[in-house]
Amino acid sequence: MDTTSTRYYNEIAASYDADYKTPFWRMYNEVTWNYLKDCLPENKTDSLVLDAGGGTGLWAVKLAKLGYRVVLTDVSEGMLDVAEKKVVAEGLSDRIRIINSDITDMRQFQDNAFDLVLAEGDPVSYCSAPQKAIKELSRVCRKAGYITVSVDNKLTWMKRSVERCDFAAVDKIMSTGIAMMPTTENTGYPAFTFTIDELEAIFRKNNVRLVRTVGKPVFAGKHDLEDEDIYNKLLEYELRYASVRWLAATGGHIAVIGQKEY
Ligand SMILES: C[S@@+](CC[C@H](N)C(=O)[O-])C[C@H]1O[C@@H](n2cnc3c(N)ncnc32)[C@H](O)[C@@H]1O
Repeated sequence: MDTTSTRYYNEIAASYDADYKTPFWRMYNEVTWNYLKDCLPENKTDSLVLDAGGGTGLWAVKLAKLGYRVVLTDVSEGMLDVAEKKVVAEGLSDRIRIINSDITDMRQFQDNAFDLVLAEGDPVSYCSAPQKAIKELSRVCRKAGYITVSVDNKLTWMKRSVERCDFAAVDKIMSTGIAMMPTTENTGYPAFTFTIDELEAIFRKNNVRLVRTVGKPVFAGKHDLEDEDIYNKLLEYELRYASVRWLAATGGHIAVIGQKEY
């Protein structure tokens, strides 16, 4: 499949890790880890984790280093190549399997195959059919296993479009939920955006009990995050308040954490 998002991630794969090393993304990842760590299966060696849309392996590598066995999937060969090199360099080939697979159709995996299922960094927004993707994430997760999904927030993209007086974008978000993600080209690639209510409703529809909804981030914006004191103070507040519902609704991204019911 060669959607614009796949082409984009193939193009930027080599610089992806370096581009996401800024303090802003470091803080974003800290907020993610703050909920992810509470979802980890107790038994490391017998558990299997799915890192769907896992890209260059940020979470797969972290979890494998903790002792988990992980299947990392993505549709960008470029991102998977970077992940593969990292996995080999870290000596984690026996714990991480890398597979080219579309999050909307993971028929190579059986029902209930995974103890923990992640779709971090918005693959559900970038895929062609978010509802199908979440149905698949739920299908492959075992009963009582955790599922975490982060997506682009509709409110954030609506506000950005209005700030730019881009009313064509406003109308598109209103009618389809789709926002164009900026790229090096002028066109961008389409992303499905969601409100927290919309994302939560898809979880419920697919037998996933809601555990937590998080805004990522809810405070950090134009601050000088290179300043360690500012960074630490904001991080403290992000971790404290990211799950307050009315604040979570305003996050740059939103994440829903759920547990499969049956
Ligand atoms: C922003 S990156 C996040 C990567 C990784 N999860 C992380 O948190 O660093 C988004 C990833 O979603 C992947 N993606 C987009 N559409 C997808 C699809 N239909 N199925 C699987 N992965 C997809 C992209 O190729 C890209 O690697």
